[in-house]
Amino acid sequence: MMTPLLEVKGLQKLFPVKKGWFQQPSYVHAVNGIDATVYEGETLGIVGESGCGKSTLGRCILRLLEPTRGEILFQGRDISQLPKKEMHAVRRHMQMVFQNPFDTLNPKLKIGQILTEPLLSHGIPREQRQSLLEETVEIVGLNKRHLGRYPHEFSGGQRQRIGIARALMLQPKLIIADEPVSALDVSIQSQILNLMQDLQEHLSLTYIFISHDLSVVEHISDRVAVMYLGEIVEFADKDKLFLQPLHPYSQALLSATPTSDPDEKHERIILRGDLPSPSNPPQGCKFHPRCHACMEICRTEVPRLREVDGRQVACHLY
Ligand SMILES: Nc1ncnc2c1ncn2[C@@H]1O[C@H](COP(=O)(O)OP(=O)(O)O)[C@@H](O)[C@H]1O
Ligand SMILES: [Mg+2]
Repeated sequence: MMTPLLEVKGLQKLFPVKKGWFQQPSYVHAVNGIDATVYEGETLGIVGESGCGKSTLGRCILRLLEPTRGEILFQGRDISQLPKKEMHAVRRHMQMVFQNPFDTLNPKLKIGQILTEPLLSHGIPREQRQSLLEETVEIVGLNKRHLGRYPHEFSGGQRQRIGIARALMLQPKLIIADEPVSALDVSIQSQILNLMQDLQEHLSLTYIFISHDLSVVEHISDRVAVMYLGEIVEFADKDKLFLQPLHPYSQALLSATPTSDPDEKHERIILRGDLPSPSNPPQGCKFHPRCHACMEICRTEVPRLREVDGRQVACHLY
């Protein structure tokens, strides 16, 4: 039985855009009505071009950003309106790993101090702290000696191990990883991905794994949500999506990533133009101006996310 850990319903985040004094205020629809369930122990990949709202979605789930609308159910409890203090307590179970840990690691603190911060902020008693500290650095592939060093003394891959250790200190259930390997060399990327997979198995973690890189998402995900301009356009099991993407946007993203099999016939679909501004998105299907399969109806009618071939797709073709 798959148990839902997190459910998101109608989640929306608008950012106001300042224009002239007399103009109506307008909004960037960064996240525009997301429904999704994340099950215990799985990895849900979220993929899409830069600017399509992935980070905003991740931050809204943890309420590092306040959602404009929608529900966030964590273990069945709606946390979208929880007051600060209660939210702090819940956050113990849901943590974030960022793309660039160096930006978020205080350069003046030693690693031991950085990793102790979350323990102090959640009132973990002193006698548990040292053992938690030592266990956690060990499971991310570092050791006790590293605790006395400063962030600048580490390589990129090691810093991401520290970022992961910090997220693990409070033994969370859910980790939202936002482009955690995008700043790393390809050889280091696979080390970190493998580490995350090992940790998931040993610690029964659930991941939301955000990346613009399809090959990374393919490596680690069980299911994948493809996002375009703040909305999910296709939501499918990883194997189904990569074998046969149905949404023209998923098809275009996939055709742009090199395949590992050189003999494989690979029809390249070129993604025309740039991502339109989310403050002034196209009418009808938001993807239609760039779509290789655009029909008349796509210019005027918004396609709803529907069940097609054992997955969800928002496209008039189906
Ligand atoms: N704090 C903010 N204020 C205004 N607009 C923002 C803010 N954060 C993100 N955006 C806009 O929201 C959209 C989605 O951004 P983001 O969630 O960072 O996308 P992604 O992570 O997929 O690259 C972009 O158009 C971005 O410019
Ligand atoms: Mg982002």
